[in-house]
Amino acid sequence: MPIIAVVGNKGGAGKTTLSINLASGMSRQGGIAVIDADPQGSSLHWRAVANHEDAFPVHSANGAMRDQARDLALHYQDVLIDCPPSVHAPQTIAALGFADVALIPVQPSPVDLWATVHIERAIAEAKAENPSLKALLVINQLESRTTLSGLVREVLDEIALPVAQVAIRRRAVYRNSALEGKSVFDVGSRGADAVEEINALIQELKTQ
Ligand SMILES: Nc1ncnc2c1ncn2[C@@H]1O[C@H](COP(=O)(O)OP(=O)(O)OP(=O)(O)O)[C@@H](O)[C@H]1O
Ligand SMILES: [Mg+2]
Repeated sequence: MPIIAVVGNKGGAGKTTLSINLASGMSRQGGIAVIDADPQGSSLHWRAVANHEDAFPVHSANGAMRDQARDLALHYQDVLIDCPPSVHAPQTIAALGFADVALIPVQPSPVDLWATVHIERAIAEAKAENPSLKALLVINQLESRTTLSGLVREVLDEIALPVAQVAIRRRAVYRNSALEGKSVFDVGSRGADAVEEINALIQELKTQ
């Protein structure tokens, strides 16, 4: 799974959180580089706060992102691209044009899931240029101790994109670790449950 684009059409779905934590997990299994393709620069910001040598590299997207990503893919096992919160953004369109996998975090609310219709369309359009593109929706910020409601399941069934078996729960450690320039892998037992679900998502990505 060399090039993974983390995309979406809603702000705050968890693209940056998943990018940082997946990259942190993947960096323990092999080399990983992140490209921050979002003008907000959140992943770059995290990397600046992290400020320690053993954290994975985060690069700012340059004008020729396809070449940049392919170049990084020669040196790293995986490349992850944190995209802006719109499928119409030029950076998202560019990334979907060459990525191997589009990972799409969505919150488990019908309103957020309905917005994924735009993503479905964007993925279908990208496949014209990039036929081998695979897409995987992942539920993020699932409330603990609640299961997906019936309505959310109904909406999920209508979406013609595969949904990851693992759902990422809403956990304070995702916010707190980021504040410290860390991932859930860097905070010991506080992060154990989150580490488990992020590793499970990495496994699912590997079988794409
Ligand atoms: N699983 C989670 N548990 C708790 N908080 C989370 C989780 N995922 C994301 N968050 C928090 O939700 C907020 C939005 O997440 P994040 O910045 O990763 O989303 P984003 O999709 O990258 O947003 P944007 O569209 O602005 O780039 C952040 O404050 C983040 O810490
Ligand atoms: Mg972001």
